[in-house]
Amino acid sequence: MSPPPDPPLPLPLSEPDGATPLDPDEAEGLRLDSIRTRGDLDRVEQANIVDGLAWLSRRRQTDVLDDQFLRRLHRELFGQVWRWAGTYRQTEKNIGVEPRQIQVELRKLLDDVRAWIEYHSYPPREMALRFHHRLVRIHLFANGNGRHARIAADALLQQLGEARIDWLPGDQPLQQAGALRTAYIEALRSADGGDYRALLELYGAT
Ligand SMILES: Nc1ncnc2c1ncn2[C@@H]1O[C@H](COP(=O)(O)OP(=O)(O)O)[C@@H](O)[C@H]1O
Ligand SMILES: [Mg+2]
Repeated sequence: MSPPPDPPLPLPLSEPDGATPLDPDEAEGLRLDSIRTRGDLDRVEQANIVDGLAWLSRRRQTDVLDDQFLRRLHRELFGQVWRWAGTYRQTEKNIGVEPRQIQVELRKLLDDVRAWIEYHSYPPREMALRFHHRLVRIHLFANGNGRHARIAADALLQQLGEARIDWLPGDQPLQQAGALRTAYIEALRSADGGDYRALLELYGAT
């Protein structure tokens, strides 16, 4: 006798503060039906990210300030788990611009960062933190934006010959409520209002 089919992923999964809940249609893009719990999901995502980082480190020349690269990076980080990895979000979220504004806002951001580099507008670490915040604020994808944008900011620092940021120990998908996570989310909220001081201070860019 075959075992009874697994129940579907219970939705909505409880999300930590500062994380964007998934729509049911997005959750349908899950490639593995062995995933039952948020813990299962975190583990398979983490394994995928390890592979994605290996892909990133094998690349010879990377221009991070390129929308195609940023989508490819998301696909490499999450494509084993989500069918829609690497494709822009199509639904509204509590964080992020309207879906149809994503491409326009991303283009503006990438142009801005290129200009910051050209005119030495900010020290590299501050530039990376501002880039990170603007990227998560646009919220390109249905999920994985925080992790993708932390890795993208580190890749930008690497492109500039600078050391990466130690964002969160073990960079979890922000489930683990730790003091640093809370401070990180609060600093992003201040940056939403244009005040970057907390973010710069938190990551030693002052
Ligand atoms: N107020 C905010 N302003 C800008 N970015 C935010 C804010 N709150 C949360 N974020 C970012 O959104 C991320 C959560 O989005 P999500 O797509 O679920 O990413 P992940 O799945 O990698 O945690 C957080 O890690 C953080 O980077
Ligand atoms: Mg998430």
